[in-house]
Amino acid sequence: MATPTLPFVPASSCQVLFSVEQIRERVIAIGKQISEDYKGESIVLVGVLKGAAIFLADLARAIEVDNTFDFVAVSSYGKGKTSSGAVKLIKDLDVPIEGKHVIVVEDILDTGLTLSYLRKLMLQHKPASLKIATCLDKPERRLVPIEADYVCFKIPNRFVIGYGMDYAEKYRNVADIRLFPEDKV
Ligand code: IMP
Repeated sequence: MATPTLPFVPASSCQVLFSVEQIRERVIAIGKQISEDYKGESIVLVGVLKGAAIFLADLARAIEVDNTFDFVAVSSYGKGKTSSGAVKLIKDLDVPIEGKHVIVVEDILDTGLTLSYLRKLMLQHKPASLKIATCLDKPERRLVPIEADYVCFKIPNRFVIGYGMDYAEKYRNVADIRLFPEDKV
């Protein structure tokens, strides 16, 4: 078996931006808010792979109203921090969402291109309602006008890893959210 290559920047050397406890607190608060907003209703959480998988897993368990979840995947033609801006759907919904209350769950709302694309796409399926939940929001980076309905943390324009978020597919498993050194991006 080939020796695995270590990440060139160990996660332990990256500064913690939000601890496991801080994340848990916010996810529980957002789950509570969603439970109040959708009292008596059923909702479908649509996670955006792969970044939102961990946030969705925690959020779904923090929501007390009846919920199911599904995933979509998009490719944004970029590696690491850079992206060309073109978004393409590479995995569609498995279950119909027509007439359902849908919350799209994303890891980071950055330029807004991904969520604008997905919002348009989801609306074509005629859901009863459509909202957006994101773990992080970088408002300074927005290129298109879109806001999330539920946000755990607003952050400045810094590159982050952990809690599902990657740099070149690494670090998604890091339990907290950390700042990735800008000179390494
Ligand atoms: P947007 O289309 O620019 O809003 O891009 C959103 C996507 O870019 C997110 O779902 C992430 O996959 C990725 N992204 C943006 N900022 C970061 C970051 O700081 N760390 C990791 N991924 C990021």
